[in-house]
Amino acid sequence: MSAAPSFDAPTVIGLKRDGGRLPDAAIDWVIEAYTAGQVAEAQMSALLMAIFLRGMDAAETARWTAAMIASGERLDFGGLARGGRPLATVDKHSTGGVGDKITLPLVAVVAACGAAVPQASGRGLGHTGGTLDKLESIAGFDAALTGAQVAEQLQSVGAAIFAAGHLAPADAKLYALRDVTATVESLPLIASSVMSKKLAEGAGALVLDVKVGSGAFMKSRRQAGELARMMIELGGAHGVPTTALLTEMSTPLGAAVGNALEVGEALDVLAGGGPPDVVALTVALAAEMLAVAGVDRIDPAQTLADGTAMDRFRALIAAQGGDLGAALPVGRACETVTAPRGGVVTRVDALAVGRAVWRLGAGRSGPGQQVQHGAGLVVHRRPGDPVAAGEPVFSLYTDTPERYPAAMAELEGGWQVGDAPAPAGPLILDRMAP
Ligand code: URA
Repeated sequence: MSAAPSFDAPTVIGLKRDGGRLPDAAIDWVIEAYTAGQVAEAQMSALLMAIFLRGMDAAETARWTAAMIASGERLDFGGLARGGRPLATVDKHSTGGVGDKITLPLVAVVAACGAAVPQASGRGLGHTGGTLDKLESIAGFDAALTGAQVAEQLQSVGAAIFAAGHLAPADAKLYALRDVTATVESLPLIASSVMSKKLAEGAGALVLDVKVGSGAFMKSRRQAGELARMMIELGGAHGVPTTALLTEMSTPLGAAVGNALEVGEALDVLAGGGPPDVVALTVALAAEMLAVAGVDRIDPAQTLADGTAMDRFRALIAAQGGDLGAALPVGRACETVTAPRGGVVTRVDALAVGRAVWRLGAGRSGPGQQVQHGAGLVVHRRPGDPVAAGEPVFSLYTDTPERYPAAMAELEGGWQVGDAPAPAGPLILDRMAP
């Protein structure tokens, strides 16, 4: 008779610290014990840092992902039908960017085109914003849905955006811990975090928006491609067709960065306006989702023009208790940054803006902290825009003006005015499929 394997946290940490491979049973044990509160936060912090520094190979990452899925519920919408046909479900996940409010218009566009979107979302991570923090700036919005409520809403509205907490609860704990221990930017930790939630949420197909650039966790196209490949393979191994777009994240998406400000910009897009880059990425991701779900009868751009996507968004917010009639919060204090000279804006760096917005109070620096929904920044002049000396380039909002010096320091050196525009690169850098 063989005894059950038994591990202890210092041994597992030491193994990875010294560059070893974690055996499957050690991964299963540490994820289960940490989720149950039997591995201390300090111990998991040390293990995360060891993984950050030493990495995990493909087999370790696959096992880590499977253990995180097994830590909670796994939803299944396979039985849903509409009009006598199985209801096609599809979701997208972004690896995180600055000003990335795409999920908001996107789920509504895809629902208006006839596919259903179960979107398990998270909160802000590091300098990047989180969909739940954004949506909770809408008065009354409730992201705590049960699996049954999600299924009901997929039938009635065509989309639900909900807290991923009961799915892969190990990830919810690890995500919060990584956010405050400088262990976010690790390829296997990002891949397993994204895919554990997304595979547990039960969507029939998945599209990944893998961000590349200063404001992304992956700074180079090579790293982003590696991350995308890893996640596409994890999806395939679990029977979920997965494709990826690699998209530009050196400049913030759109003009609004910060929770409520981004909701406002998403509403502009849904009303048929909004910044061209936000519209273009929404439409491209919607087309990719509809193709992978096999539902491509309606042109996604049309749903923004004819108001059908806005109708879906309003229905989704109302179904989750939100009141779009209530004013969105705006930080009580506002400071403007102006151009020191005339010319053309040549650079607005996504990381500088993301960190400034985080300093203004839109993100967290400790576990469980409240974010300021009204904190954020508006980019008045984007790369390529002409500007005169003294004209506003940024407006910064916060409820706590003592944060301004730190936010201004983050922006310092993160933007430039020159004589001629720098050549603009493409927004979509690559498409990857199995
Ligand atoms: N999104 C996630 O869900 N997890 C990460 O680690 C990064 C982005």
